[in-house]
Amino acid sequence: MSGNITFTIIKPFAVSDGHIGPILNKIHTAGFKISAMRMLWLTQGEAERFYEVHKERPFYSDLVEFMTSGPIVVAVLKKENAVADYRKLIGATDPEKAEEGTIRKEFARSLRENAVHGSDSDENAAFEGSFFFSGLQRF
Ligand code: CMP
Repeated sequence: MSGNITFTIIKPFAVSDGHIGPILNKIHTAGFKISAMRMLWLTQGEAERFYEVHKERPFYSDLVEFMTSGPIVVAVLKKENAVADYRKLIGATDPEKAEEGTIRKEFARSLRENAVHGSDSDENAAFEGSFFFSGLQRF
């Protein structure tokens, strides 16, 4: 059975380009509720741990460097079928392949600077949400 939470990051360039508000607006319009949210600047160690699953990939160090290049916004989102519906809303990882109207199509600069992250499974949503938020910080 699919769960009702997913986890998202508004990535550094989307934050510095002024897209926090428009991205949150799309999230609300699509029917997601914000369960937890905050702005922070990841340390190298935190980014390495968060992206450990990609450790063997050729883009790992580049990804860590990018994700520590400025403040980000992290949030836990609630909705029925949250993981699949949010992935549909954000579009393909590569913005050139993302459908019109998706968050990445509108706000991404490139494959690496793809504006937002969205969990790819209920298990990862649980891990990623717990990485940043305790139970007391969720509503
Ligand atoms: P995301 O799906 O949030 O999590 C993994 C990230 O790695 C992905 O977004 C991209 O930002 C990045 N990524 C994936 N594939 C590549 C790639 N081939 N080159 C550079 N970055 C990548």
